[in-house]
Amino acid sequence: MSQSQINAPNVAIVGATGAVGQEFLAVLAQRNFPIDKLKLLASARSVGAQVTFRGQTHKIEQLTQDSFEGIDLALFSAGGSISKQFAPIASEAGATVVDNSSAFRMAEGVPLVVPEVNPEAVQGIELGKGGIIANPNCSTIIMLVPVTPLHRAANVQRIVVSTYQAASGGGAAAMAELQQQTREVLDGKPPTCNVFPQQYAFNLFSHNSAVGQDGYNLEEIKMVQETHKIWGSSTEKVGISATCVRVPVMRAHAESINLTLEKPLEPDQAIEILRNAPGVSIIDDAQANRFPTPLDAAGKDDVYVGRVRRDTSRNDSFTGGALNLFVCGDQLRKGAALNAVQIAELLLR
Ligand SMILES: NC(=O)c1ccc[n+]([C@@H]2O[C@H](COP(=O)([O-])OP(=O)(O)OC[C@H]3O[C@@H](n4cnc5c(N)ncnc54)[C@H](OP(=O)(O)O)[C@@H]3O)[C@@H](O)[C@H]2O)c1
Repeated sequence: MSQSQINAPNVAIVGATGAVGQEFLAVLAQRNFPIDKLKLLASARSVGAQVTFRGQTHKIEQLTQDSFEGIDLALFSAGGSISKQFAPIASEAGATVVDNSSAFRMAEGVPLVVPEVNPEAVQGIELGKGGIIANPNCSTIIMLVPVTPLHRAANVQRIVVSTYQAASGGGAAAMAELQQQTREVLDGKPPTCNVFPQQYAFNLFSHNSAVGQDGYNLEEIKMVQETHKIWGSSTEKVGISATCVRVPVMRAHAESINLTLEKPLEPDQAIEILRNAPGVSIIDDAQANRFPTPLDAAGKDDVYVGRVRRDTSRNDSFTGGALNLFVCGDQLRKGAALNAVQIAELLLR
């Protein structure tokens, strides 16, 4: 593990006014992350806006090429194009970058890290000495926190996953649009569609990322490619198929996950493994029909797991394991800000 000489880094947050940026501030405060100086950066639109952090008022500054002088840790969440342009500048200036965008996730030499899964990937990176670490896609993180311990126990051979993704995954503007549309529809008015091209309130649709020639959208491709990078696997070893859907939930994603395992694993064994897994909580009360919901997960750190059951579509000749589970996780926290801060904590040790 990396050994940093810096106990309380100078920290910059790029995109501090956004949905993830605001969550960064909450997570840093809640986890008592040691910070010497804090710099909050956003676009020219937000310059001068005031933010309170640990009882002190900070003014938002405009992100420029000179923003990273003296910065040891830069947490980026301002979109892929900003990361592409400014993360290398920050790294060159000596800041270690943890980037929430997709800009560097698949780049060779850039670690893609879920601390519960592959903390060893940050080895050799030291705070204040540059370097870029990528935070995986929110749906990938929320899937891998519970699935990795099952993979370690019984060797996952195939994953079929369907997501139910909240508005918060689309940023602050998407959340505001869902609120506004809900009011408009209830008032009998036509819904305002600025962020998404179609009605979101009282509706759901295939994930709004671009669809490729093979029919898969970018979010689905990210789940496949990023899982392989994090696990060090390949399609030959682990087949992964994803369907990503936006649902009119304000915050926290849900996922239905079907697993084919090399070794048999009964639902109660899987629950026992998950009970002891870091970052996982179980809500699995079949009698009361009580399983994880986005509201259970909203604002929480853990990924909630339930509906752990055998996949009964397998016939008796199948000798491996086959399970279904349903999970919910807050993608602003574990899917973004919390995971990035946990990565930074690895560098403090
Ligand atoms: N939402 C999620 O759950 C989630 C999860 C994982 C990763 N991410 C990634 O995190 C990033 C931010 O997402 P978000 O949901 O927080 O979006 P958001 O709510 O729309 O916030 C965007 C942030 O970027 C800033 N920004 C935009 N243009 C800028 C510029 N030219 N210079 C400096 N700052 C600029 C905005 O500042 P102004 O307020 O000044 O415009 C704002 O602080 C994206 O790359 C997204 O893919 C999001």
